[in-house]
Amino acid sequence: MNDTPEAKGDIVVHVAGLKNSFGDQVVHDGIDLDVSRGEILGVVGGSGTGKSVLMRSIIGLQAPTAGVVDVFGESMIGREEYEAKRVRQRWGVLFQNGALFSTLTVAENVQVPIREYFPDLDPQLLDEIAAYKVAMTGLPAEAGPKYPSELSGGMRKRAGLARALALDPQLLFLDEPTAGLDPISAAAFDELIRSLRQTMDLTVFLITHDLDTLYAICDRVAVIADKHIIAVGTIAELLALDHPWIQEYFNGPRGRGAANSAARAEGTNGA
Ligand SMILES: Nc1ncnc2c1ncn2[C@@H]1O[C@H](COP(=O)(O)OP(=O)(O)OP(=O)(O)O)[C@@H](O)[C@H]1O
Ligand SMILES: [Mg+2]
Repeated sequence: MNDTPEAKGDIVVHVAGLKNSFGDQVVHDGIDLDVSRGEILGVVGGSGTGKSVLMRSIIGLQAPTAGVVDVFGESMIGREEYEAKRVRQRWGVLFQNGALFSTLTVAENVQVPIREYFPDLDPQLLDEIAAYKVAMTGLPAEAGPKYPSELSGGMRKRAGLARALALDPQLLFLDEPTAGLDPISAAAFDELIRSLRQTMDLTVFLITHDLDTLYAICDRVAVIADKHIIAVGTIAELLALDHPWIQEYFNGPRGRGAANSAARAEGTNGA
């Protein structure tokens, strides 16, 4: 099958005609979206528009009622578990609520996906890999033996990221990674994602409400509204569209504030 999206070489996630419903409630009525290799794609939309459901249907946790979902050129719909597992190994996920196992320490949480794929790994090596992943996300080594309840919100996000990076993924799904963080921690998290993209050659699917994040690290932004992706493009391209939600979002007081600080940061960097 040479016409698969991956055969084209640059499409990592391909979603077409995706429909999702819960009972009578239609959440998605034909979602089309491609994520290109190496890009950080931001996904925005009002609360409850179906951003998390979209992510869940891409990673196979939500069975859509119709449509196509290909990841790395392989269909994710109706996949046998062993086949899905092979593709799953190539991505990492940071869920909106963190989803760390509360009865496991941070290091043990990071080890969960590694144990799943490499059950015979030497325990000492497992510890070393976990410690390395914890350090990679900027957590202090002391965080490794702590339980999630013993961490601050920002540290929990980093711990979730460490677990998402456990298997050296090529693709990262992040659902609201900076929600609830103070602006300095949020900016540091953005910087971390940007540098990981560079060093690990990652493609990133990033759901966020954080306008600063969108300006700081996203190459393109997809807007979800009215059960569809209504636009995808750079922020400049989106700003040129005459859609009321997009205008309100990017040109409202917060949007303008984020644009101004992005412009200031650019000026500082360029100096
Ligand atoms: N498992 C489920 N069962 C029933 N309804 C669900 C389920 N998961 C999500 N929904 C509904 O689907 C809609 C979209 O939810 P989703 O979590 O994707 O929103 P969201 O865009 O991520 O919102 P937020 O920005 O608040 O995180 C909501 O109306 C929600 O109630
Ligand atoms: Mg959500």
